[in-house]
Amino acid sequence: MAENDSFDPLVLPRLTAEDLVLRGFQDDDLDLIHEVSTDPLIPLITTVPADFSEQAGLAFIQRQRDRLTSREGYAFVIANASDDHPLGAIGVWIRDIARGRASVGYWLRSSARGRGAMTVALLAASEWAFETLGIVRLELYVEEWNGASWRTAEKAGFIREGLLRNWERIGGEWKAMYVYSKILAVGLGPI
Ligand SMILES: CC(C)(COP(=O)(O)OP(=O)(O)OC[C@H]1O[C@@H](n2cnc3c(N)ncnc32)[C@H](O)[C@@H]1OP(=O)(O)O)[C@@H](O)C(=O)NCCC(=O)NCCS
Repeated sequence: MAENDSFDPLVLPRLTAEDLVLRGFQDDDLDLIHEVSTDPLIPLITTVPADFSEQAGLAFIQRQRDRLTSREGYAFVIANASDDHPLGAIGVWIRDIARGRASVGYWLRSSARGRGAMTVALLAASEWAFETLGIVRLELYVEEWNGASWRTAEKAGFIREGLLRNWERIGGEWKAMYVYSKILAVGLGPI
């Protein structure tokens, strides 16, 4: 039986891409969570605690691991392959897997930005998702102002499909989001 047809916990793979590794969350990633808890955006679009404490940070890490048992999806840490230093996170969420769809979300700590690391991680996660999850569509959502994110999506081969008005409540306000996707095309593979 395929993994996605069962009620067993999902199994997070270890992926490598260029100088990066995508792996599971570990308790010693706490420093990463502490740093991004002060980011102006990340606590608003994730459950990273804005009010950081060791307990809240460890609870966040445990929640990411629990997404395997709840079968919500795969929460990867993006780390340097050389020393395992954590740079950020990327999640592949499979709530709509029965309809052939998954979605992806991502963030980096500020010191890891500006060198295209997320393009590499997004390409690796998308390739793995199409190869192993049996999906035909992978989507992501980006606010209009977030050029670094939508440019990352485009560099990783995602296509902008439109603007979804009042799509998500972020920081107490309803925000429009661009929807991007990559699809599996018969005979062509992911496009
Ligand atoms: C989005 C994010 C992951 C991108 O990180 P990154 O891999 O370091 O991205 P880079 O800074 O290398 O930029 C990627 C591309 O976007 C371009 N870019 C950066 N800022 C941009 C802007 N304001 N408008 C348009 N393009 C922009 C870069 O020039 C680069 O393209 P290029 O290689 O063709 O020059 C990172 O900025 C982040 O974690 N932000 C906070 C969390 C977040 O926004 N998550 C996504 C929510 S949808």
